[in-house]
Amino acid sequence: MPSVSTLFWSAYPLLLIAFIYQVGLPNFIVRPVTESNAFNTVWKLFATTHCYASITTLKADLPQAQCFSVSNGKFSRVFRDEVSNGIQKLERPRAGHVIPGLWDGHGHLLQYGELLDSVNLFGTTSMDEVKQKLVGYMKERPETGTQKQWLRGVGWDQANFNGAWPVANDLEIDDSFKDLYVMLDRVDVHCIWVSNSVLSLLPKNIGDIPGGEIPAKGVFCDNAMDVVLEHYQKPSKEQKRTFAKNAMLELNKLGIVGMHDAGVTPSDLRLYEELSGTDEWNVRVNAMVECDVRNTFCPDDVKQITTLNGKFHVRSVKLFGDGALGSWGSAMIEPYTDKPSSSGSLLVNATTLSRLTLDWAKEGYQVNIHAIGDLANRLAIDAFEAALKVLCPNGNSRNCQAKHRFRVEHAQIIHPDDQQRMQDLGIIPSIQSTHATSDMGYAESRLGANRTKTEAYRMRSLLPLRPVLGSDFPVEPANIFEGMYAAMTRRSPRTGLDPRGGKVGWYPEETISFEDALKGFTINPAYGAFLEGKAGAIDMGAYADWVVLDEPLRDLDPESLRMATVRETWVGGKCVYKRP
Ligand SMILES: *[C@@H]1O[C@H](CO)[C@@H](O)[C@H](O)[C@H]1NC(C)=O
Ligand SMILES: *[C@@H]1O[C@H](CO)[C@@H](O)[C@H](O)[C@H]1NC(C)=O
Ligand SMILES: [Zn+2]
Repeated sequence: MPSVSTLFWSAYPLLLIAFIYQVGLPNFIVRPVTESNAFNTVWKLFATTHCYASITTLKADLPQAQCFSVSNGKFSRVFRDEVSNGIQKLERPRAGHVIPGLWDGHGHLLQYGELLDSVNLFGTTSMDEVKQKLVGYMKERPETGTQKQWLRGVGWDQANFNGAWPVANDLEIDDSFKDLYVMLDRVDVHCIWVSNSVLSLLPKNIGDIPGGEIPAKGVFCDNAMDVVLEHYQKPSKEQKRTFAKNAMLELNKLGIVGMHDAGVTPSDLRLYEELSGTDEWNVRVNAMVECDVRNTFCPDDVKQITTLNGKFHVRSVKLFGDGALGSWGSAMIEPYTDKPSSSGSLLVNATTLSRLTLDWAKEGYQVNIHAIGDLANRLAIDAFEAALKVLCPNGNSRNCQAKHRFRVEHAQIIHPDDQQRMQDLGIIPSIQSTHATSDMGYAESRLGANRTKTEAYRMRSLLPLRPVLGSDFPVEPANIFEGMYAAMTRRSPRTGLDPRGGKVGWYPEETISFEDALKGFTINPAYGAFLEGKAGAIDMGAYADWVVLDEPLRDLDPESLRMATVRETWVGGKCVYKRP
């Protein structure tokens, strides 16, 4: 345990008293306690009880309730209503409808905070619009663009530049941009586009880079990005602290109480551990280890952690199979339909992937492999299957998998044979539902009709595997109601439409129900992080995290759901966001 969080938690009862003293007890009165156990009695006195018009608990034996009590940051009781439990009648009418705190099963915390601090190019539809945004940003942030502090942005897509890759010269927007250091991430963060000043730092001749591409002068994809990143002054610890804090404030506004951070380096893990004990840290983070050198084995640089306050967990590692579909980087069994000369590229070979999976699993880490193309997914499943055989030589691989909980991150395009293997082994898919609706405009041209229909962006087909749903923020907006909408309708949460401009939805046979979408953002990510019983449900002993809404979420039609906003977000029994 870090000393900071130990200190914080030993002071917690005092803080709680101070909190109650400051804000007053909620609108209820707890009955005198009868337990003889003195310790219980003391805690009951400090328990606060909250009652609402309705509470969806996602707890099997009591799916709907009206009140719960919280003590020491956890739910200590959940009860149907106050009458049956003898709480005195409330003086004020109860308002608000509660669901468990929401979890994003795959996002990037610091990158999200960094995005909030940089040029947001998501949703831009032309090169002119990109240039306007850059000019506007420079007016507000004239200090950026130096060699020490590059001007950063994210969200461009060459599909909006008439399909042509941008080039460094495009960033010479006017005289004020002439010597600026600019680095802009593609919408999928698998390519960067940089200015001439940045290019001037690089060697004159850059040879072939395995697993990387330089499709235009100024654009670097996948492994080729490292050539540039070597010269990029990484944000300081202080900046990262601000990124984390700002990101968490935004996430809390969206009802998000927890996230799986899909790749955190050893030094950032140490920073997280330190920050998780401060009261700025209001989102629970389940971090996947990413070694300083991707796709390596670095157990000595990291350790498994669960802080006492439950705000920070480390028990998994992230490996990377391939790149993204948008930049033809995902590794395919057959060539791309719209680029027959290429079938994408693997970032690691099968031998290494299998060895790393086994090495990490033997160290007790859950292994989560980034796999988008059907070849990468196949190799990930091969690696898991082989590891399970070694880990449980006499056992059933499915039971063994329940212990190790290997995950495929993205699980986007999976050959039907491999979908079956995933089901047989119980491999957990970690799916970002808005990736389907963001990619649906071009996926079919990349993959052709048959592969799209049988392999791409499965959701309902994979439901028995309890998919973990997420957004991959900042690649997509972090709004979980939009993610639920995308999964329930297979239509864009931005426009409400499918690729044909209609309301049918893109391959609507893969839509999932409201209940399954909600599970995908609550109890499934809890299970996918070994946090079942602790997160994702309103249940005795679980972290007291919940979201208050104006109306019962399940009663909203999908169009209202995608626009829904939260009234309050509570983490560990503390209100961390209240709609003004
Ligand atoms: C796989 O990659 C590793 C590390 O890059 C390399 O040492 C090994 O020779 C490769 N194996 C095969 C079969 O290509
Ligand atoms: C369609 O794709 C599946 C695998 O995704 C393949 O097995 C099948 O042969 C393909 N059918 C045609 C007509 O190409
Ligand atoms: Zn990601």
